[in-house]
Amino acid sequence: MTEPTSRPSLFERIRARLAPNEMPSDDRGRMRMVVDSLILHLHPTKVIVTSMNWTYSWGLGGLAAMLMAILALTGVVLQNNYTPAAPQAYLDILEINSNVWFGELIRNLHHWSANLLIVVAVLHLIRVFVTGAYRPPRELNWLIGVAMLLLTLGANFTGYLLPWDQLAFWAITVGTSILSYVPLVGGWLSQLILGGPEVGANTLLNFYAMHISLIPLAIFGLMSYHFWRVRKDGGLTLPKSVDQVEEPKPERVTTIPHLVRRELIFALGWFAVLLIFAMFVPAPLEGIANPDVSPNPAKAPWYFMGLQELLLHFHPLVGAIVLPGLAVLAIFLLPFFDINLNSVGIYFRSRRGRSMTLLAMGLALAAAPLWVVLDEFVLNWSAWLPTWDTLLSNGLIPLAVIFIPLILLDEWTVKTFHADTEERVLFIATFLFTAFVVLTIVGIFFRGPGMSLYWPWAMPAAH
Ligand code: HEM
Ligand code: HEM
Repeated sequence: MTEPTSRPSLFERIRARLAPNEMPSDDRGRMRMVVDSLILHLHPTKVIVTSMNWTYSWGLGGLAAMLMAILALTGVVLQNNYTPAAPQAYLDILEINSNVWFGELIRNLHHWSANLLIVVAVLHLIRVFVTGAYRPPRELNWLIGVAMLLLTLGANFTGYLLPWDQLAFWAITVGTSILSYVPLVGGWLSQLILGGPEVGANTLLNFYAMHISLIPLAIFGLMSYHFWRVRKDGGLTLPKSVDQVEEPKPERVTTIPHLVRRELIFALGWFAVLLIFAMFVPAPLEGIANPDVSPNPAKAPWYFMGLQELLLHFHPLVGAIVLPGLAVLAIFLLPFFDINLNSVGIYFRSRRGRSMTLLAMGLALAAAPLWVVLDEFVLNWSAWLPTWDTLLSNGLIPLAVIFIPLILLDEWTVKTFHADTEERVLFIATFLFTAFVVLTIVGIFFRGPGMSLYWPWAMPAAH
């Protein structure tokens, strides 16, 4: 009879592959080896020196990943102390704030990381956009990124309701009212998501289920694939200067310690900032949700205030569905109609691209507030066209009034600057994005009671 041979241990197998002097002989060395192999599952063994430039990627993708990790860790602690039922949910938050070990700090960290994540993911998208890093072969990673951004907004929105305070209840009531404008299936969709005709106990349960399972699962699944694709697509795009004609020189260094050391310093620095912020600035919490007392004005969460502002200017079908739908579609399709590889890695494409970006920002900073004020005080489409359907008078006509100057502006850039396709895309995208940011700022800070325009500094102090 032959003796059953036991399977060699992991270390024995590694040892068999390594030269004798490469195998660490003590525990510390072996530990180090395990950590190093973990890192090298995420990163390649060598990276190109210029791809590590701070001022190229700004570490935004890494920061987004770190915030995701903080959200998952703090989320699990919150979940262990939280019941998704009204009014218990609110009482649990009070309990977390007062009686759970470091509960308030953990809640604050979750809240601020979630909000910062939206800003960071959008900045990361902008970086990828202005350096042309979405072009082949990275189209798929761009699409995955857009999906992750939408899911991040979903995670923030569903999380917003969970504290079950006045702020949560009314912001979600306003936010979800947009759903009913979806053509044909709006009513059904709203009923499905809210679990009833309006925000209530079922909505809380639905949002909780989505918040702690479906959405994080989808985000973390996509995130792993996003990272893998960065490697598969040949690492980060390489920074190039405006006048550089030939391809950048790919000088490489080992990931450990060069890249890992930078990542560690960056992550620790940001974590310290976040921790200090969360120690001193509490996540907001108002009185318990009261469906009978609506605040005036009732506003959606800040990241949807641009949309709420659009709704004040357009027929809901145009403001809430057509315009955002077109924007998301254009972002999805971007890598398929702007594929010039020459300027990948150059911030703003070219010298002319830089000037055009600045010009587009300046124009939008002037035009968007002007449009808001004119539309509030002067333009009154439905009064001018009383017999017209409001979809025409308040939707399609104002839309045309905006689109026609945009097309003329585009033609002007071609005639005046001899802009090529990629510079035109950059110009229009910068204009529209800046205008949307202006609308968001107007919605957050300059809309008072009844959602009419007001000057916050001129209001008498509230008692
Ligand atoms: C992308 C990931 C996530 C985002 C963006 C996110 C976002 C948020 C936001 C904005 C809130 C409201 C916080 C407040 O103002 O009080 C919240 C609450 C909450 N989240 Fe998350 N979250 C994420 C992941 C998770 C995960 C993975 C879990 C659980 C495993 C979780 C569990 C909770 C719980 C229990 C609450 C209610 C407690 C509270 O509101 O303080 N979250 N989340
Ligand atoms: C929301 C969470 C996200 C995480 C955690 C994440 C993470 C990362 C990381 C770590 C990198 C490599 C380092 C860097 O470029 O900073 C990266 C690259 C990339 N990301 Fe993201 N990302 C996210 C969202 C997005 C979004 C919203 C987009 C665009 C729509 C996007 C598109 C890309 C592309 C195209 C690259 C390759 C860039 C290049 O080669 O220069 N990502 N991402």
